[in-house]
Amino acid sequence: MSKNVYVTRLIPDHGLDLLKKFCDKVDMNPHDRPLTRRELLKAIQGRDAVLTQLVDKIDSEALAAARGVKIIANYAVGFDNIDLPAATAQGVFVSNTPGVLTDTTAEMAWSLLFSVSRRIVEGDKMMRDGEFKGWAPLLLLGQDISNKTLGIVGAGRIGTAMAMMSKGFNMRVLYWDKMKNESLEKELGARQVNLDTLLQESDVVSLHVNMTGETRHLIDKEQFERMKPTAVLINTSRGPVINEKALVEALKSGRIFGAGLDVYEKEPSLTPGLERLPNVVLAPHIASATVETRTKMAILAAENILAALQGKRPPSLVNTEVWKG
Ligand code: GLV
Ligand code: GLV
Repeated sequence: MSKNVYVTRLIPDHGLDLLKKFCDKVDMNPHDRPLTRRELLKAIQGRDAVLTQLVDKIDSEALAAARGVKIIANYAVGFDNIDLPAATAQGVFVSNTPGVLTDTTAEMAWSLLFSVSRRIVEGDKMMRDGEFKGWAPLLLLGQDISNKTLGIVGAGRIGTAMAMMSKGFNMRVLYWDKMKNESLEKELGARQVNLDTLLQESDVVSLHVNMTGETRHLIDKEQFERMKPTAVLINTSRGPVINEKALVEALKSGRIFGAGLDVYEKEPSLTPGLERLPNVVLAPHIASATVETRTKMAILAAENILAALQGKRPPSLVNTEVWKG
């Protein structure tokens, strides 16, 4: 089988080296930016495999341009950028990078949580602006985390890891998920509840759902109204899970204490007003961005491609129904 691969954006060397070692041809986006739509549609023609980023929209038009491709290996755990039914209908494998980024993403959720609860970014700005006039009893009062209630929305791999990391803080854990999570219940005494109960009772609400039609605007005006005024909302999943306009209102009016975001509804743009609010911490979609994790993701994406091109089952195949081995 021929092995002609396209990589839509520079990834860590370990993954590229694997591809170069075992493939006949490996081409890559030469720019330090995502490909434009036109560039993408042209670049993926005649390839056996394409290694994509979550900003590359792989819809039926792109799949038609890539006719003959065996695998789309997404360099992300989320794959909402890919039209999965269309890929499956064409017999194209789709793979993602689960597992290797679980703890790293959960650590980011905690980083955002601490930053928001203890107002680290506001304090940092105060120091740099020369506004710190000395210790004061009411300066930048935040919210405690220990002994509070943590609400996990979507108790998959990452949500579970976020919850497990709460052990040291003696938190009560609630979760909302379609599936019962035995390990959370056994190890943390976590309780599965409906979304309204979770929002009403949690001091921290952390989002870890996949992006689907059902989770779009899962957190909207009505949901903010159920939350505690002292609550902190964390989103490391996908931006459209929150109605960002409703979030701006909730933060502005003090309906909730604060929010920590790594993802945005219209990424990379922000809903107007968000950038002026002091009670939100904004990260540029970097939850999996550590040297170790990005290297593991690159290797896993490359391994998926090599398996597919060798007639083997890709190790993290998403549309398993395409595998006929
Ligand atoms: C990042 O958002 C990912 O899905 O890996
Ligand atoms: C994603 O990997 C999840 O299952 O949380």
